[in-house]
Amino acid sequence: MTTIWNSSHRFDRKAAEWDENPRRTALAECVAKAIIETAGPVATMRAMEFGCGTGLLTLALAPHLGRFTAIDTSEEMLGVLNKKIETLGIRTVATRCADLLQVEERELWTEKPDFICSSMTLHHIADTQALLDRLNGLLRKGGTIAIADLDLEDGFFHDDETEEVHPGFERSLLQAMLEKAGFDRVSFITACEISKTNRAGEVKTYPIFLATAVKP
Ligand SMILES: C[S@@+](CC[C@H](N)C(=O)[O-])C[C@H]1O[C@@H](n2cnc3c(N)ncnc32)[C@H](O)[C@@H]1O
Repeated sequence: MTTIWNSSHRFDRKAAEWDENPRRTALAECVAKAIIETAGPVATMRAMEFGCGTGLLTLALAPHLGRFTAIDTSEEMLGVLNKKIETLGIRTVATRCADLLQVEERELWTEKPDFICSSMTLHHIADTQALLDRLNGLLRKGGTIAIADLDLEDGFFHDDETEEVHPGFERSLLQAMLEKAGFDRVSFITACEISKTNRAGEVKTYPIFLATAVKP
């Protein structure tokens, strides 16, 4: 199973207002800080982010990395990011509208990235193992991945109950999947926590993990 859950249309509709939610901008800042502190990005690394959305994480990490390819399935989300890139005169970030599970590698770059990152996208992709296998195939040997997402949650995190998503991830199961995909030195930290009134009307705190791993 390699389908995505029709997310591009949903995200197209949300793109214009995406950055207006202060919880999203705070989360991206917090994840960027955790990645900088634990994954050690450096300016010589070629980087890729999948599910970059409007580029909240991309633009926070770009000054710490070399050439950066930001990938998303939503044209509208990328449109917002492209405007920021143009306004800020950023030269190191290129965007691609593509489904990471389907796109041909030659359409993305000529040299494999040393660094792959993502925030809050993993739970939107149906086949987690297929995605991790793909990431391992895309990454250069010795390269690092850094993925932030929800810890296993109560199923009420998303406001829209029709949205097909994973209810977060249990760390030990995700670690096993990362290792099955061929990654080594898998480690987890809690990058931050989101407090919100969930779909059931309860105020809950949802931890966000940062998983890092290396392709041996
Ligand atoms: C919850 S948003 C997160 C956006 C951004 N990382 C942030 O934190 O603001 C998930 C993003 O993943 C994108 N996405 C979902 N499935 C994807 C896939 N298979 N390949 C690339 N992008 C995908 C969606 O279009 C959406 O922009």
